[in-house]
Amino acid sequence: MRVLGIETSCDETGVAVYDSEQGLLGDALYSQVEMHTEYGGVVPELASRDHVRKLIPLIREVIAESGLALTDLDAVAYTAGPGLIGALMVGASTGRALALGLGVPAIGVHHMEGHLLAPMLEESPPTFPFVALLVSGGHTQLVRVDGIGEYQLLGESLDDAAGEAFDKAAKMLGLEYPGGPLIAKLAEQGDRTRFRFPRPMTDRPGLDFSFSGLKTFTLNTAHACRDAEGVIDAQTLADIAAAFEEAVVDTLSIKCRRALRDTGLKQLIIAGGVSANRRLREKLAETVAVEKASLYYARPRFCTDNGAMIAYAGCQRLLAGQQSDLTILAKPRWPMDSLPALEVN
Ligand code: KG4
Ligand code: ZN
Repeated sequence: MRVLGIETSCDETGVAVYDSEQGLLGDALYSQVEMHTEYGGVVPELASRDHVRKLIPLIREVIAESGLALTDLDAVAYTAGPGLIGALMVGASTGRALALGLGVPAIGVHHMEGHLLAPMLEESPPTFPFVALLVSGGHTQLVRVDGIGEYQLLGESLDDAAGEAFDKAAKMLGLEYPGGPLIAKLAEQGDRTRFRFPRPMTDRPGLDFSFSGLKTFTLNTAHACRDAEGVIDAQTLADIAAAFEEAVVDTLSIKCRRALRDTGLKQLIIAGGVSANRRLREKLAETVAVEKASLYYARPRFCTDNGAMIAYAGCQRLLAGQQSDLTILAKPRWPMDSLPALEVN
């Protein structure tokens, strides 16, 4: 089965074709980051308009690069939520209409299920059951995954998501949006031991997270380090970035270890934008080694938003006989544990 995947839930237009026999045939991404940078974050209306401009040319490009015609598609998968409603509507209406025109099924895919399954696109993927740490700009969740659609939420952030915390801390340090990759880059030059930031909620049982306090800690540390002119020297800035990154990564790692112990599972997958973070991968590699478990993640391009994960997730559900009706599905909020389980035929 050959599935076109469309992702437009936020500030990236992603398109891909996944073939259940041959794997990924093509994928392309257009990032709007530059457009939103000058506003310090995503401007929803600008995002929607840009998806309108970019989506159809991107579909044409991916179809051509895959050596296919539109009529070679067996189905269309589009991100139906969660995300920005206007942005979602662009992909959902385009995907639904394209499928109708081609006379093939369409399926609305859950964005976080897409992220969750992205490591399946790599060589030697994990097998069910496993523990998943989903860390994106909007979500931080630990989930027990027994199969596609069999999700048990183990813990989640009570306030800011990990990616959101990276972005907000970056802003406080005068870095651009999105701040995650910029903090990570800066942190490489930093001394990780000069400042010690708290590891929120690690001193009590449970698997929930809270990252909003780290924001205040970053702000206060930065404030205390400014000179008479209000300037922070470059090394200190890198040291603060390193202390912040270390605190987030250490906190995530402590909770992952706890989740592996609580569930008795021996596979940990990380997915979503923050799973591209090199320090997080490094730290979790140490954690799983101690637990005699294995760590899985997608290549960096498939950690952040992309069309391939949507094509893959949609394909798995379509193969199991699921499809969406003619409704243009777009749900800004959509709990992942409300998804139906999948029975493979
Ligand atoms: O999954 P994603 O592309 O979009 C959402 O579904 O939210 O995640 C984007 C988030 C942003 O907050 C971004 O700063 C963060 O992922 N991010 C990173 C890194 N790359 C992206 N955070 C830390 N280190 C990175 N290397
Ligand atoms: Zn995402």
